[in-house]
Amino acid sequence: MNTYQIVVLSGDGIGPEIVDGALQVLETLQTQVGRFHLNYQFYEAGAACYQKIGEPISAQALKAIETADATFKGPTGLPEVRKPDGTEAGPLGGVLRSGFDLYANLRPIRLFPNTAAPLKKKVADSIDYYFLRENTEGLYLSRGVGIVTSEAVADTLMVTRKGCERISRYAFKLAREKKRGAPQDGKRRVTLIDKSNVLRSFAFFREIFLNVARETPEIDAECLYADAASAALVTRPEHFQVVVTENMFGDILSDLGGATVGGLGMCPSANIGDRLAYFEPIHGTAPDIAGKGIANPVSQIRAAAMMLDYLGETEAAQMLETAVWQAFENKRIELTAAGSIDGKMKTAIKAIQDELKQV
Ligand code: IPM
Ligand code: MN
Repeated sequence: MNTYQIVVLSGDGIGPEIVDGALQVLETLQTQVGRFHLNYQFYEAGAACYQKIGEPISAQALKAIETADATFKGPTGLPEVRKPDGTEAGPLGGVLRSGFDLYANLRPIRLFPNTAAPLKKKVADSIDYYFLRENTEGLYLSRGVGIVTSEAVADTLMVTRKGCERISRYAFKLAREKKRGAPQDGKRRVTLIDKSNVLRSFAFFREIFLNVARETPEIDAECLYADAASAALVTRPEHFQVVVTENMFGDILSDLGGATVGGLGMCPSANIGDRLAYFEPIHGTAPDIAGKGIANPVSQIRAAAMMLDYLGETEAAQMLETAVWQAFENKRIELTAAGSIDGKMKTAIKAIQDELKQV
């Protein structure tokens, strides 16, 4: 039996209910597979934690994350809970991503069957690419350290050679190993999204990206400007396989990608470094629908599948992703146009548990 130590941060808003749903599904999966066991340690984190202790996460929780095999996180932050500088107190991006150097933010954008995706004329799986967001530098490196006077504020976009190199390498490795979404023309491809026509930081990033690309000539390297890319991600999403971006562009454009496949509630993510990783939905805490049992738990459940894949439980990960797929295929989960769950969240969780028994 493979046993893994998992830190669980349930978060704020819809966090606790979707994390709970995902843990129920994981329970079913563990029983069914019988080869692995997840040992959970629960810690508070986010806006509610900040209100209690003045920090969004405790030192004990950070210590636990450092020694755990992985961290399973719900969304954190509440819009009204802010630091004295005016920014939100609950998100843990700075603490966890920069703090633990989790530079690769992997966000699969995949179109499931029967989702209320705005591009519904597209067939399921025609959209199936990875957003790879650089997670530790770019404009967000300026988080908390911008220059502020009463009359002007400056945040600086900085990228480093090391940062550009490692995220580019990760992108080409991902393209080489990508299991699903095989290119129709048989050619594997990585797309860099930047604004190198305007900013020197992006010209620097592009040069490094193209240098790294030479290491894998069998994979096409292409570059798109972010403005044109945001149109292309809507008009021809099937073109993309691996998209790599600077931190803030990745934050913004991965939400756009999520909207093309039925909403952010469909979208999981992994934050991966050389030694540690955590898994979470790409969306926020949706306080307006919290506690109503209508949030889509799929993002959190698929984040669990990504975690299992990272832990080396690839078969279990695959089973879970397939069970979610089948729940949509068999119309056991229906999404509203706004991307929430039509009916009860409990029904969706039960549907995925049932489908697990069929995979
Ligand atoms: C995300 C979120 C965070 C980010 C927020 C909550 C700080 O939007 O994970 O995409 O900006 O990275
Ligand atoms: Mn975001």
